[in-house]
Amino acid sequence: MALIEVVQGDITRQDVDAIVNAANQSLMGGGGVDGAIHRAAGRRLAEAGAAIGPCRPGDAMATPAFDLDPPVTHVIHTVGPVWRGGQHGEAETLASCYRRCLEVADELGVRTLAIPAISTGVYGFPAERAARIAVATVGSTPTSVELIRLVAFDRGTHALLTAALAE
Ligand code: AR6
Repeated sequence: MALIEVVQGDITRQDVDAIVNAANQSLMGGGGVDGAIHRAAGRRLAEAGAAIGPCRPGDAMATPAFDLDPPVTHVIHTVGPVWRGGQHGEAETLASCYRRCLEVADELGVRTLAIPAISTGVYGFPAERAARIAVATVGSTPTSVELIRLVAFDRGTHALLTAALAE
């Protein structure tokens, strides 16, 4: 059973084995957390993403972490759902992102993993619902990961994740 914690901060500054990227299907970089991770990891990340992509929404794929600071060794890229009103399987796809990230982490032998609030930025998924899905899914997915750190960039997301974890 993994320990789940919630922190506020920058995912590129976490002392974990792997970090999750909220990517787009190309895996070649973008804005938001994707842009921050690509800037910190360097140009080789986009080349590695292009070589393994595209990635379907709900799925996850790993690359090396390149220039990210140790101890981070891998980036696990997942593609969240674009919010289209909630009737297009968005909740199921978001849950699948968290599950697949943990499966890929297990394949890599990752023990500590940091995950951002997938889909809640540019992709528009309502933040409170997303926080509940994040906590419920990582809490119910069997995994060898020992520490799952949910990283909120802003105070509002931190409060929502903290409340979801306390439920
Ligand atoms: N560390 C942690 N969280 C962050 C950081 C950071 N450095 N920067 C932003 N966030 P978003 P999405 C938070 O838009 O909604 C990209 O262009 C942010 O505040 O990054 O899944 C991709 O290429 C929000 O809470 O990802 C895709 O095209 C959360 O990360 C698209 O955006 C997710 O916001 C993906 O959209």
